[in-house]
Amino acid sequence: DERALAAHFTARVAAEQRIEPRDWMPEGYRRTLVRQVAQHAHSEIIGMQPEGDWIASAPSLRRKSILLAKVQDEAGHGLYLYAAAETLGVDRADLTERLIGGRQKYSSIFNYPATGFADVGVIGWLVDGAAICNQVPLCRSSYGPYARAMVRICKEESFHQRQGYELLLRMMAGTPEQRAMVQDAVDRWWWPSLMMFGPPDAESPNTRQSMEWRVKRHTNDELRQRFVDMTVPQAERLGVTLPDPALRWNEERGHYDFGEPDWAEFRRVLSGDGPCNAERIRRRRAAHEDGAWVREAAAAYAAKRSAGETR
Ligand code: ACO
Repeated sequence: DERALAAHFTARVAAEQRIEPRDWMPEGYRRTLVRQVAQHAHSEIIGMQPEGDWIASAPSLRRKSILLAKVQDEAGHGLYLYAAAETLGVDRADLTERLIGGRQKYSSIFNYPATGFADVGVIGWLVDGAAICNQVPLCRSSYGPYARAMVRICKEESFHQRQGYELLLRMMAGTPEQRAMVQDAVDRWWWPSLMMFGPPDAESPNTRQSMEWRVKRHTNDELRQRFVDMTVPQAERLGVTLPDPALRWNEERGHYDFGEPDWAEFRRVLSGDGPCNAERIRRRRAAHEDGAWVREAAAAYAAKRSAGETR
């Protein structure tokens, strides 16, 4: 009966066993995974936009091919994640409709504009750095298809992070104007990167249950702290200043203290009122509509082939 199934599920999760698509799972577990995996997939797809804008004006062939590869990787990540979500009984076409209808979220970070080429480096360093920090523990998430997708995604994210940092090292060794571009991009992306980890634990409605189910392995604040600790020495090595006067090493805690992100801004961006929300969704909707003929042709081709096979 249901109670025995639930007890068996809880025991398996506690024993660090993976839950697979055909296994019994509580409805809430399935729902929370659909929510998180879909939001994650949407983030990868929308995340192609801020940097994609720079492919055509990358300053060299080398930078262009790196950026092109990176943006294509993001598309791939979105596709693995939609496939992982589909193992939970939802349909990718439906998830896309929910995204462009504003009924499902994607990461707040992609509602900020990339206004200069240094932003490509800073997105790689900070945004992909934050993504890795958040996603490496998800390789041990209790749901098998999600955890396995994360392994490959994290490997590719780590390449993304390094290309960003390498670009910034080069720019910092360049002219004063190039150094100023890097500092300006760091000033704009630092706080939004901290917001990627989600609201403070005390205001995170999902964390407790997701930790119990081992969908999440750390709280939002734990990962935010880990990111700050990891990033400060990298900023020093690079020679940029992180825009937070409260940032200092706390000997007693063995961690950096840091200031509070502007949570009112975070809530505004989540509610659809960030600098680029409307533009991101408009372009995603246009791409979806422009691609309708491809989906129709692929479906017609598949139908023809399967008709041929049954004859
Ligand atoms: N941007 C947009 N929405 C957010 C963000 C954010 N940065 N942080 C939290 N939220 C949303 C949550 O989805 C949740 O919304 P919902 O309940 O309406 O669905 C709400 O705010 C409350 O937050 P939490 O209770 O803390 O939600 P959760 O436990 O899901 O934690 C987190 C949020 C940390 C983002 C988690 O979902 C997660 O780890 N997701 C996987 C990673 C991911 O999606 N990364 C995408 C960006 S990285 C990249 O693509 C390069």
